[in-house]
Amino acid sequence: QKLKLSLEQIEKSGYEHFMLKEIFEQPKSVHDTMRGRLLVEEGVIKMAGIWDHIEKFKNANRIIIIACGTSWHAGLIGEYLIEEYARIPVEVEYASEFRYRNPIITDKDVVIAISQSGETADTMAALKLAKERGAFIYGICNVVDSSIARITDAGSYTHAGPEIGVASTKAFTAQLTILSLIALKLGKHNGNLGNADFMSLIAELDAIPKKIEDVLSSTHELVQDIAKDFINATNFLYLGRGYNYPAALEGALKLKEISYIHAEGYPAAEMKHGPIALIDENMPIVIIAPKKGHYDKIVSNVQEIKARKGKVIAVVNSGDTQVSQMSDYVIEIPETSECFSPIVASVPLQLLAYYIAVYRGANVDQPRNLAKSVTVE
Ligand code: G6P
Repeated sequence: QKLKLSLEQIEKSGYEHFMLKEIFEQPKSVHDTMRGRLLVEEGVIKMAGIWDHIEKFKNANRIIIIACGTSWHAGLIGEYLIEEYARIPVEVEYASEFRYRNPIITDKDVVIAISQSGETADTMAALKLAKERGAFIYGICNVVDSSIARITDAGSYTHAGPEIGVASTKAFTAQLTILSLIALKLGKHNGNLGNADFMSLIAELDAIPKKIEDVLSSTHELVQDIAKDFINATNFLYLGRGYNYPAALEGALKLKEISYIHAEGYPAAEMKHGPIALIDENMPIVIIAPKKGHYDKIVSNVQEIKARKGKVIAVVNSGDTQVSQMSDYVIEIPETSECFSPIVASVPLQLLAYYIAVYRGANVDQPRNLAKSVTVE
């Protein structure tokens, strides 16, 4: 009997779907993104794209990040990172909104486009507009030599390797890694980030691939069990604060894209301005609550949810007690600096979306109506 192995099966290296393979590749892809750039022993971040144009960044009035979809979520986290460490004002825009609203752009602006494919039509058009108006344009792309990579003045590749699953996973964590490197490098250079803080942050960043690996092995089975309880859910709410607010948006997007369950991401404090009206015993709420980052505030959000009988799935740090005691399901992740916590917290949320979709029988790698790269407007 002939052994038949399709090319696709080989490419999936034993995983049932590309998405799962790509989720599990993240310890390596994040490491690859930092390779040759993050030199912990020497205490340096090497990024030619930034360094060759350091004056542009240093003198920038502001940085405008443009992107779509998951890349836009990465951009939001980039805003928190760059503003916190480099103290340069950042605006994050949907490429499609930016390009059609006659934006104010000057030659003192630096525009960063984030795009996995490097081919997204709206991002490309927004960049062209920014370039025409004199901005310095920088690309953060995954696909080498893609259209966006070619028209930008400079850039940094994410080096996550090919991403096949339509729902972006490893490209997202690679984008967060690049944005972290850029923020720390700029902050160090312009003097807003002192040497001791810089050193401890780069050591923490260097430890992220190992933490992702730990999260994958410690939560993989647990998340499958949780997923089984939610295959008939019709709505989900994802909440987070600070750096983990965009991580909540991304968690919700992953679920929507592949399971077709309606999901909304929200900054946790905004819950009281609307979503709280939806909470009852049928509403699952994923809440990202690491120890560092407004933890006490999150505790009161969870109390409000439990008072209305919502089902809480909490992503907390190992050893957590307060939020865990109130929650229906607890997913533990290792502690890290607040600014890197979205990288680690995103991993179990990707798994959760993946398994809910699989158990619902959805085509995870090619969800209906979605495309890997949107080259039409
Ligand atoms: C599509 C994909 C998303 C992606 C978005 C932006 O909607 O399905 O996964 O986040 O486009 O794509 P880009 O390649 O520019 O990052």
